[in-house]
Amino acid sequence: MAIKKSAAKPVGKSAVNSAPKSAKRAGLPAAGAVTAMGLSLKPWTTVLRRARGAEARSGSRCFLFAFAHRDVKVLKKTFTGHLNAWQLKSMLESEAESLTFQGSQGPIWILLGPSREKLKLTSSGLEKSGVARFRDLAGTSLAGVLSAERDKLVIELHGLSKTEQAAVITGLEIANYSFREAVSDPGKKRRLRPQLLAKEIDLNEDEIQAAGKLGFAVNLARHYTNLPAGALNPKTYAESVEQIFAGSKSVKVEVWEGERLTAERMGLLQAVGGAASEGPRLVHVKYRPQSSSGRAPVAIVGKGVTFDSGGLDLKPSSGMRFMKKDMGGSAAAVALAKWAELTQLKLPLDIYMSLAENAVGRNSFRPGDVLVARSGTRVEISNTDAEGRLVLADALDVAINQKGSDLPSAVIDIATLTGAIKVGLGADIAGLFCNDEHLATVLCDSGLATGDLMWRMPLYQPYRTQLKSHFAEMVNSSEISFGGAITAALFLESFVGQIPWAHLDIYAWKDLPAGAWTESGGSGQSVLALSRALSHMAEEK
Ligand code: BES
Ligand code: MN
Ligand code: ZN
Repeated sequence: MAIKKSAAKPVGKSAVNSAPKSAKRAGLPAAGAVTAMGLSLKPWTTVLRRARGAEARSGSRCFLFAFAHRDVKVLKKTFTGHLNAWQLKSMLESEAESLTFQGSQGPIWILLGPSREKLKLTSSGLEKSGVARFRDLAGTSLAGVLSAERDKLVIELHGLSKTEQAAVITGLEIANYSFREAVSDPGKKRRLRPQLLAKEIDLNEDEIQAAGKLGFAVNLARHYTNLPAGALNPKTYAESVEQIFAGSKSVKVEVWEGERLTAERMGLLQAVGGAASEGPRLVHVKYRPQSSSGRAPVAIVGKGVTFDSGGLDLKPSSGMRFMKKDMGGSAAAVALAKWAELTQLKLPLDIYMSLAENAVGRNSFRPGDVLVARSGTRVEISNTDAEGRLVLADALDVAINQKGSDLPSAVIDIATLTGAIKVGLGADIAGLFCNDEHLATVLCDSGLATGDLMWRMPLYQPYRTQLKSHFAEMVNSSEISFGGAITAALFLESFVGQIPWAHLDIYAWKDLPAGAWTESGGSGQSVLALSRALSHMAEEK
């Protein structure tokens, strides 16, 4: 169903679910096709093929070259026939990491290894990996590639490691995402995508597809995060998750709501979500791969506050402006489930999404209320705006109380939990709190390798005194505003028992476009790092 220009609807349920009529071009959802609230479930880069015969030598083309090293011989040889003598000279003299030329066979984008200047820079401990560099450079080139309007993009990768080659594809996929195109906003025309042909690439078919699927997972998290709270609420979100896994052989989705939450004694989640017109939900996405090695599952718990007004402790308008993103942790969690299913990760996963809208209404929970958590712990509410730790506490309790072969070997929660963490680490670096040295190492290494960075923060026990309550076992937030990310993490720690546990305090948002993220908005933070960490855990003995 096409949206008529004259009847431009606000982005609501119907607008985000409709697919345009002209769905013939690559990657557009066909009318009636299942989408994730508008986002096609088919990654664009799956159209990438190895070039056969003459197909890369004919027709309307543009070119993307990447080189790990600035080897003059290789560069000269590659570009003879593309560039004239002057262009060749200026390329060889340039220190830039990416260049573009109007070549004799079509427009060319060239991505180059770090210049001598860059190599001299000293290390901060969080230097950009080759993977992150090539992903960002490839992504940045996409806008130009699309505006060149060629039928084919021919890709040649020289000297890149296999993970760097995959990163080029992932970067193109990430850069291809546009919110307004996904929800088919008539004000934003969809640009034609060229056919992708790889001439020089070491990846096999599965590896090429996996790289695209990873980019798609990032975009899935971004898309859910970008959806306005008027369209994405606990009900529509849970329904969309059911839809995107409908018919799956390896994934089962279970949604708890209403009476079931009461039966499960999820008092904290129910209190936070009680004032909104759509009540809270706990969504359990259970992934069991076809070929499992009998390994215990890893549990991932995501904060899914679809809008955080602050509740009765209302946020000021500046602080509320972007609180539709307060479900970014759950978006990363469900994106990881989709990625695992698409790539058949050899590690079982239990994803728990704790969904609620923190609204103001006659059923709002109040400062001073004493609530009973699923674990039995009584919590006095000192601030209704510290709601994330409440919805997570009950979901963590579900995660750690699974029985037998479902008992997780580790629990990882992802949450836009505090403003304090962004003051300390900024938007790009997640705060990592972890009670297990090995898990912390795996996560930090994965962050560094993917450029989806995290930094270990202390679970400093003396601050626990700030959570003491006169009326219950704990208050939900400290009256002292210093160290807010730490006290929030300590609150969560009270609900995870002895299981290896990691908590990621994320920002989930890009205020400005950067690298492969050519649009600001939801960032999919932690998807890349955790996909790598989970792959690593799947291989671990
Ligand atoms: N969702 C917010 C945290 C947040 C704010 C994340 C801005 C990203 C950007 C969370 O629910 C919250 O309101 N936290 C309070 C805690 C305080 C009341 C103890 C905060 O950080 O101010
Ligand atoms: Mn809040
Ligand atoms: Zn919140």
